[in-house]
Amino acid sequence: MLCLGLESSCDETAAAVVADGRRVLSSVVASQRDLHRRYGGVVPELASRRHLETFLPVLQEALEEAGVRPPDIDLVAVTRGPGLLGSLMVGLMAAKTLAYVYRRPLVGVHHLAGHVYACFLEAGEPPWPAVGLIVSGGHTELVLLPGDGRVLRLGGTRDDAAGEAFDKVARLLDLPYPGGPQIDRLARQGDPTAFAFPRAMLGDGTYDFSFSGLKTAVALEVQALRARGGDLPVADLCASFQQAVVDVLAAKTLEAAARYRAASVLLAGGVAANRALRRALEEGARRLGVELRVPPPEYCTDNAAMIAAAGTYAYRAGRVDNLDLEAAARLPLERL
Ligand code: KG4
Ligand code: ZN
Repeated sequence: MLCLGLESSCDETAAAVVADGRRVLSSVVASQRDLHRRYGGVVPELASRRHLETFLPVLQEALEEAGVRPPDIDLVAVTRGPGLLGSLMVGLMAAKTLAYVYRRPLVGVHHLAGHVYACFLEAGEPPWPAVGLIVSGGHTELVLLPGDGRVLRLGGTRDDAAGEAFDKVARLLDLPYPGGPQIDRLARQGDPTAFAFPRAMLGDGTYDFSFSGLKTAVALEVQALRARGGDLPVADLCASFQQAVVDVLAAKTLEAAARYRAASVLLAGGVAANRALRRALEEGARRLGVELRVPPPEYCTDNAAMIAAAGTYAYRAGRVDNLDLEAAARLPLERL
């Protein structure tokens, strides 16, 4: 089964062709990062306009690279939310048009479900049930996948996303944006026990997270160190901050894996690139005897191949949407 995936929820315009929910024939991503850089964040109105300009060329390239024509496509999958409404509408309208003109089934995909299904690309289905941790600049969510096509929410951040915390702490330390990779790199030369930063909500029996207090603790420490004069121990600060984030993320993910007798743990989103987080989950997964899946780097960040994978599995589980499907800026995941 050939699925065309489309994604335009934020500042990436993407199209992909995926066979059988796992084999990527093409995955084209046009980033708008340069457009928004000087505003220090994504400007919704500019984003949707750029999607409009970029969509057809990106789609064309994805089809050409895969060596297919629109009638060869069996299924159209598209991100319907959450995200920027105007941006989502561009992808959704394109998807509906293709589904209508070529009389193909349409499946709307939750963007975060897409992120976990990135773990299926190339590797295929993981052993069930699976616990998924989605960590990006905009989201931190812990989910359970029973194996029947559902993605159920166990918990998530109550304030900042994990990637957002990395980016904000990097800014405090005058490191360039995005800060996650910089902190990851510098932390390797630092001592993770140099500063005792808080591990919020650890061991509280929920699967929720909070990172804004940690960010404030780092800010206060930096302020105090600056007042004392001399060079900032940047590597130690990075290592200690990163360890605090990783401790909480890994502990709660592994707790959920044990509680729900997971056979696999799926790590997804931009922060999945973090080496300390990968190592902590690798060790924990080995201890529990479960398989850890992390997608290749190009499928950790926003892309349409993950949307095609999620759409294919949803379709196989019996889901089809009508042409009146609407974009949803806020779209909660189903709760357990
Ligand atoms: O999924 P993603 O590409 O997009 C958005 O959420 O927009 O995630 C980007 C986030 C940024 O916050 C970035 O700092 C973080 O992922 N990130 C990392 C690493 N690489 C990217 N955080 C920690 N360690 C990394 N190696
Ligand atoms: Zn995303």
